[in-house]
Formats: sequence, C-alpha cells, structure tokens
Amino acid sequence: MSKTVLILPGDGIGPEIIAEAKKVLDAVNAKYNLGIEYTDGSLGGASIDQHGVPLSDDTLAKARAADAILLGAVGGPKWDKLDPAIRPEKGLLKIRSELELFANLRPAILYPQLAEASTLKPEVVAGLDILIVRELTGGIYFGQPRGIRTLENGERQGYNTYVYAEHEIERIGRNAFEMAMKRDKKLCSVDKANVLEATMLWREVMDRLAPEYPEVELSHMYVDNAAMQLVRAPKQFDVMVTGNMFGDILSDAAAMLTGSIGMLPSASLDKNGCGMYEPCHGSAPDIAGQGIANPLATILSVAMMLRYSLDMPEPANEIEAAVSKVLDQGLRTADIYTDGMQKVSTSEMGAAVVAAL
Ligand code: IPM
Ligand code: MG
Repeated sequence: MSKTVLILPGDGIGPEIIAEAKKVLDAVNAKYNLGIEYTDGSLGGASIDQHGVPLSDDTLAKARAADAILLGAVGGPKWDKLDPAIRPEKGLLKIRSELELFANLRPAILYPQLAEASTLKPEVVAGLDILIVRELTGGIYFGQPRGIRTLENGERQGYNTYVYAEHEIERIGRNAFEMAMKRDKKLCSVDKANVLEATMLWREVMDRLAPEYPEVELSHMYVDNAAMQLVRAPKQFDVMVTGNMFGDILSDAAAMLTGSIGMLPSASLDKNGCGMYEPCHGSAPDIAGQGIANPLATILSVAMMLRYSLDMPEPANEIEAAVSKVLDQGLRTADIYTDGMQKVSTSEMGAAVVAAL
C-alpha cells in the first residue's frame, strides 16, 4: 500500500535541508521499495508570499490527507513586521493545532563522535540520551484570552493565558509514560507547581496516572531547577514531560548538550500516530542560501517519520546508522566542526549519508 508524504520546505535554510532529507528518503524508498509518494505544499513565509496566508486551506487539506508531513522550518526577518495574525509561525501553530499534533517528541542524543563539539565537558554529556515529550497544542501558546489591550490610563498591556484541561494533561502524560516504558522507565514531569495553578493540576494528573505504570519511576521537578539540572548533570534524565512553553525552552537547552541544535529531529504526533516531522532548529535566516546548514536533524526526522508514522522501522534504523557512519568518517558541517575533521557543505553531507546507506 502506498503512503503519501507531504513535503513543506518552508523558509530560510528549510528548502536546503529538505532537499538533502528528500535525497535520503528517495534512496531508502527505492532500496526497500517502500512505495512512498510525495505531495507538495507551502508553509510559513513561503506561503505568505504565494497565498497571503501562512497556511492555506489547500496545504491544510493536503496535510490532513497525508500519512506524514516532513517540514523544514519557518520564519525570517522578511516577515517579522507583519501583523502577528499572519506571521509565518502562525502557520506552524495552526497546522499543529488543526491536526491535533499534541505530542511533540524531541530526543536529545549525543553521538559519541560529537562529544568534543558540545560546549559541556565530554564526561558530563558522554552517552547522553534524553527524550523530551512536549505538549504541543495547548498551554500558554493557545490559551484564551490573549492580546495587547489599552488600559484606562492609556498604557498598553500584553496578556496571555496559561491553561491546561485535565484531558490534555492526561493524554500527553500517557504518551510520556508509554515512551518511558520503552526506555529506561524514568519519567520526570516538569512544572512550576510552586507558583502556577495550571501546573499544580498538571502535577496532580501525572500523579494520578502513575499507578497505571507501576514500572515507571515518576519524579517531579520545577522548571527552573530542570533547566539547571539539564546543564549540570543531564544524564540523570531519561524521559521528561512538560507543557508547551517549558518544552520549547528546555528542548533548545537539551539540544545544545548534543553539540549542535543542528542534530536534533522531532516528531509531532496525533492520537493515532499520524504526524509531522521537523528539525528542532529554526529557519536560521543568517546562514540561509549559503549551503552550510546541517541537514542531519532533518535526515534524522525522516528516520523518525519512517518509524512512528509509516511503520517502517528497518529503513529508519538504517538512516540512523548511516548518520553515525558519516560522523565516523569525520565529516562535519560548520556547526559541529572541530579541529582535525573534514568540513563539508549541506549537500555534501546529504550525499555522504546517501552513500553510507
Ligand atoms: C519550536 C519553535 C516554534 C515553537 C516556533 C517557530 C513557533 O521554536 O518548534 O520549538 O515555539 O514551538
Ligand atoms: Mg523552539
């Protein structure tokens, strides 16, 4: 049975890294006769330029029809001055929300070959393997009311609402417990329950779920401490589960532990495992068009896509092994370059992964 993948290159370095990821997907598609077909759409600034909106109805319909979505990145200074309602990021948030992609998996794995590229001491990060499970369709990102209003005294005030309903906490909680079951069975739930009511409820619901997963050791941590522990002793963590905004912040921090945010893939899944796959890094407008971006996060996102949404674990493993192999060969894009290695461009890195398959 054929499977359809919607490709959304997006903005900035998005098209460059997607081109390399697509080469890799093409290669396994041919080798394993996977029958994967592609559709195209546009998202973010690219869509604003073409259609005047960051996510068109046409692309949204294609997204609903696809078995999986592969996304580059969105945003850039060109669109920063637009009305917030039609900024590129709105397209990304809308597609996450419309498709109910509530479970965002962000693995932070340190490839041993890159221990020197991390800004942390090698002994602190060697062997690091964390999974951050971020709630993606709720919390302060989507809470109402929100906006900028003018007070009686004429001063303007910005406001957002941090909300979580029990069912939203429960479904991401279950997802995280299940992920933990497949790993080292340690789950750390991150909140700010000493201050925010929404996260007091978060903690309560996590505790309520815990007896259903007796093998998993559940702990709780305040987000400020979690940020500190991530850079102090990151290997204490196995799976971390947290809300939308805390997950956004902690996953960037976790990414840096691995040497470069250019190495981190992600999956955003709905309740049936359909999903969107994207690198954790952004559109990096400062280096766009130069052919120096690291395509590995996107290539590793392809592996996650094959595993989680397309039920094709074998080619997924093979892509991950190929990435490890090119790192063994000493090939490095600029972001992960260290002395004595061979510096390569975006397309050279993509070609090397294809060759290693
Ligand atoms: C991410 C990004 C997005 C987010 C932006 C681009 C809206 O930072 O995926 O982490 O905040 O979720
Ligand atoms: Mg982010």
